[in-house]
Amino acid sequence: MKNNTVLITGADGFIGSHLTEALVKEGANIKALSYYNSFNNWGWLESIDCQKDIEILTGDVRDHNFCNRITKNVNIVFHLAALVAIPYSYIAPDSYVDTNIKGTLNICKAALA
Ligand SMILES: NC(=O)c1ccc[n+]([C@@H]2O[C@H](COP(=O)([O-])OP(=O)(O)OC[C@H]3O[C@@H](n4cnc5c(N)ncnc54)[C@H](O)[C@@H]3O)[C@@H](O)[C@H]2O)c1
Repeated sequence: MKNNTVLITGADGFIGSHLTEALVKEGANIKALSYYNSFNNWGWLESIDCQKDIEILTGDVRDHNFCNRITKNVNIVFHLAALVAIPYSYIAPDSYVDTNIKGTLNICKAALA
């Protein structure tokens, strides 16, 4: 992992933040994607010790142009950005399709390009 540039989507989430910490320890250069919000809150990344050792990007995987931009000059992508709350998926299913399916397609296509 040493010297690889790694993009982690969902780095602001539970698994992504722990993965971020683990890969920093292994010497990776981390670009950590946090879902944009107007409070400028980085979720679980707010409380990690290695915040100064990573680059935090904010944005949205539903935006394919944004995905194309953030995957440039990256060797490895871990895609963990998702909507995970099952009860809310019954209330707002379109947002789950847009984020989990189209967002994943955006990241995969961008990574291939
Ligand atoms: N936690 C578990 O036990 C577990 C088990 C198996 C699989 N998973 C999978 O791992 C992945 C991450 O899970 P988690 O538990 O860390 O969830 P989480 O909710 O803590 O993290 C997901 C992150 O994705 C971000 N996100 C949501 N929509 C986004 C968007 N449009 N653009 C950019 N970022 C966006 C959220 O801000 C959130 O922080 C999910 O796909 C989940 O299904 C989790």
